[in-house]
Amino acid sequence: MPGMCDLGEHQHDAAFGYLVDTPVIRALIAETRRQTTAMPDTAARLEALKPAFAALLAADGWLPDAYASPDTKSGMGGGIGQYALYRAEDGSLTLFSLVIPAGAETPVHDHLAWGLIGVYRGRQFETVYRRMDDGADAARAELQVARTQTMDTGEFYSLQPPRDDIHFVRTVSDVASVSIHLLANDTGCVWRHRFEPDAGTVRAFRSSYSNAPCPQDPR
Ligand SMILES: [Fe+2]
Repeated sequence: MPGMCDLGEHQHDAAFGYLVDTPVIRALIAETRRQTTAMPDTAARLEALKPAFAALLAADGWLPDAYASPDTKSGMGGGIGQYALYRAEDGSLTLFSLVIPAGAETPVHDHLAWGLIGVYRGRQFETVYRRMDDGADAARAELQVARTQTMDTGEFYSLQPPRDDIHFVRTVSDVASVSIHLLANDTGCVWRHRFEPDAGTVRAFRSSYSNAPCPQDPR
């Protein structure tokens, strides 16, 4: 239909596909698809994807202001906004921005998918946990701090669960931080885990997206 996608700001109302349609996002998703087919080894695939991901972090002008702003109705609390930018309908891949206001922090959480995560604006302080129990009790989790690190704009890392999959992030810049996540699941809608390290507890957690609905909960 002529004019259907002529929204001016490259922002679409669809729940899946390119919710933000720009050449740099299309290039990263195409490269991810290509490497996912070409490289069955996850570590090698992540390494091969680093240049394309770095290119997205280095590019200007592709992230709409609305998707770089806090969300007062956040599913994660603290005004944290999680905005789907690309979302595969089969749940195999998502690109999203995560906006954490100055001084705010995420819950301790996991991701349950391989991918790449990097800082696009501001600075974040990350605490990574190691799980010490065997997961036999669905309500309990014993965590120990494995390491901490500060991430500045342009810095990124690869994620290959279960290693280093549990963390929380705090914005330590005086402006909101914006991080970009390329992850091999529908991160906002899958049931993940939220941890309380001091209490030793864990519970089911779905962050949701600020700009797109989740499919009906099958449980
Ligand atoms: Fe995270």
